[in-house]
Amino acid sequence: MNADAMKKQAAEAALGYVEGGVIGVGTGSTVNHFIDALATIRGRIEGAVSSSEASTARLKQHGIPVLDLNGVGELSLYVDGADESNDRLQLIKGGGGALTREKIVAAASRQFVCIADESKLVEVLGRFPLPVEVIPMARSYVARELVQLGGTPVWRDGFVTDNGNLILDVQHLEITDPRQLEQQINMIAGVVTVGLFAHRPADVLILGTPHGVRTLG
Ligand code: 5RP
Repeated sequence: MNADAMKKQAAEAALGYVEGGVIGVGTGSTVNHFIDALATIRGRIEGAVSSSEASTARLKQHGIPVLDLNGVGELSLYVDGADESNDRLQLIKGGGGALTREKIVAAASRQFVCIADESKLVEVLGRFPLPVEVIPMARSYVARELVQLGGTPVWRDGFVTDNGNLILDVQHLEITDPRQLEQQINMIAGVVTVGLFAHRPADVLILGTPHGVRTLG
């Protein structure tokens, strides 16, 4: 079974957490499978709050209403993928560059269900380069500060986020204390969002595997 089939399996299993109302929807290839599955039960929900322009377009293509987070209260459910997860369900996210809106929607949701193929579960976070969204004028300054923290930041050249900012992908980090590193990077002036989801980890992790889904949390 290939990775995409495992992502699809996890995405379809997440439908079991949808109880109605307005739900938060993340970004990425795993979430695309979730959106396609959600379309089959779209009559059961009022609509979705989206974490990216790409997901908004896909939701609309399926006739699922996309709502402004400012107009709805706390969301009961947020479903999103991840680039890495440890066994405490602390995540690296932002491979698709949507980390800021993803973090906002995750924070505004009661339950965060993360969907992924089994390769995303790791012992120590950091093999996947950690995305950091930065204000354009702060790019070089933030990069120097990230070097001080032991990383090797690489500018995702040519990529602009939905918020008009840039991404630095920080390589060579072995993240043994994700909460502390999230806090340290958040404190650097010019950082909009770091793609570490440790203070608000996932509540449930659904992994697609060749033997069926495995659920943690
Ligand atoms: C986008 C993300 C994605 O959830 C993450 O990159 C995983 O993507 P995929 O489902 O395509 O493997 O954080 O910003």
